[in-house]
Amino acid sequence: MEAIRFSAQVSALSVIGIYPGTFDPLTSGHLDLIERGSHLVDKLIVSVLANEAKQPMFSVEERTEMLRESTSHFTNVEVDSFDGLLVEYASAHGATLLLRGIRAVSDYEYELQMALMNRRLNPKIETVFLMAGESYSFLSSRLVKEVIRLGGDVKDMVPPNVEERLRARLLGATAGKR
Ligand code: PNS
Repeated sequence: MEAIRFSAQVSALSVIGIYPGTFDPLTSGHLDLIERGSHLVDKLIVSVLANEAKQPMFSVEERTEMLRESTSHFTNVEVDSFDGLLVEYASAHGATLLLRGIRAVSDYEYELQMALMNRRLNPKIETVFLMAGESYSFLSSRLVKEVIRLGGDVKDMVPPNVEERLRARLLGATAGKR
């Protein structure tokens, strides 16, 4: 009887996590983090920052669409967008966990600052960091764009749908026409 009551309580306490980012565009490193993060929570909302001040290459709609195409096989992952304060967006969605990835020591300072600011703004929301998969620790959206622009191969660095869009945007070509 106790066990039944306990398991009912546990299942009622579902953990919702937010994985926020610019995702301009998403890389295989982001996808790896989404997959691993999705095992830590009941629902993971991958949310694209809708901030034109960052002058992204892809619109919010394009970035969310690419994310949706690439994450449709995850049953507990949703894709959304947000603007304004992340912690306010998170609490409006009942989220208690923010997921971020760390690739190298150089990411640490920026991430620490954001995590501490977010904790100051809302101490009930915890930032959880996952180390980037070792094969993705050099990868960034900015570098992928640069490599494509200069004619390099980005196979395995971005999902095929993203590569196709990048080639179309940067080279006016489709992925098949190299
Ligand atoms: O992929 P990025 O560019 O490193 O993601 C940065 C992001 C979206 C996580 C960050 O810019 C953010 O959370 N922006 C929302 C504004 C906010 O809440 N700022 C105050 C706390 S740092």
